Amino acid sequence: MSSKRKVGIVGFGHLGQYLHQAVKDSADLDVAFVWNRTTSALRETVAEQHILEDLSKFADRQPDLIVEVAHPVISSQYGEAFLAVADYMVGSPTALANQEVEDKLRTAAKHHGLYIPTGAFWGGNDIQKMADRGTLKALTVTMTKHPHSFKLNGILKEKNDAVTDRKTVLYEGSVRDLCPLAPNNVNTMAAASIAAHNLGFDGVQGRLVADPHLMDWHIVEVDVTGPGDVEAGKAFTVSTVRRNPAQVGKVTGSATYASFLSSMLGAHGRGSGVHLC
Ligand SMILES: NC(=O)c1ccc[n+]([C@@H]2O[C@H](COP(=O)([O-])OP(=O)(O)OC[C@H]3O[C@@H](n4cnc5c(N)ncnc54)[C@H](O)[C@@H]3O)[C@@H](O)[C@H]2O)c1
Repeated sequence: MSSKRKVGIVGFGHLGQYLHQAVKDSADLDVAFVWNRTTSALRETVAEQHILEDLSKFADRQPDLIVEVAHPVISSQYGEAFLAVADYMVGSPTALANQEVEDKLRTAAKHHGLYIPTGAFWGGNDIQKMADRGTLKALTVTMTKHPHSFKLNGILKEKNDAVTDRKTVLYEGSVRDLCPLAPNNVNTMAAASIAAHNLGFDGVQGRLVADPHLMDWHIVEVDVTGPGDVEAGKAFTVSTVRRNPAQVGKVTGSATYASFLSSMLGAHGRGSGVHLC
């Protein structure tokens, strides 16, 4: 019998295809299943025995880890059920901005781990340590991209469509309110809100900036405030700037694929509860 860990992949877009190949290439992992909304998209590249037609039958394939790389809706529909049988890595953690979904998944993670990939979020473990000690006072995550690299809903879409040649702040406020308006763009901020659990989705601040001159990069800035007198300029602070090469129009930057693979490889063995990976 194989002692390889079996991975179920939910979603077969850019990330799903990349991770499927990585699992096939890995000495430690096996494919438990691949599911996609339309099965026809799988037929050419996925072995017949690995195709899962009906996602509700996922447990039959005995996965050790299930990785969602499809859409936030998967976590609300299947997250609890996944966690009853396997570790679960949520590729679209904006799903957890819905308090009901976050509560449901945290509660369900009592036998297996709920793993949140850090994505483009730098310094997550340090921030989580500060949250654990209650020393994290404020956290702001600013994401700047070319307007064509955003995939937005509602009022934010209108604001972004109106950007001409000037760098424009599209949103500034809680990550909770931002997630439904930009579910594909702010997974990094959702990961930050889970790491910064003493502030949560309501306390962590998100800023979304459209910059028409930013042709080749996605920029993520993380500003942390710890203990000390902010007014007197004597507070603990950390600021990082992550510049990820990305073509205009691409929602996912190229460094994100490698980061995701590392997350998947690290998503095991940490027991129950919620873990950044
Ligand atoms: N955590 C991170 O840092 C991070 C980074 C990049 C992407 N993501 C997220 O991962 C997911 C996949 O990203 P991608 O770049 O592979 O996207 P993609 O658009 O290339 O692929 C998405 C796949 O999911 C399917 N899908 C879309 N809506 C669906 C729905 N409602 N129900 C079921 N399936 C659905 C599509 O058919 C497609 O196969 C997205 O939700 C994206 O926001 C997260």
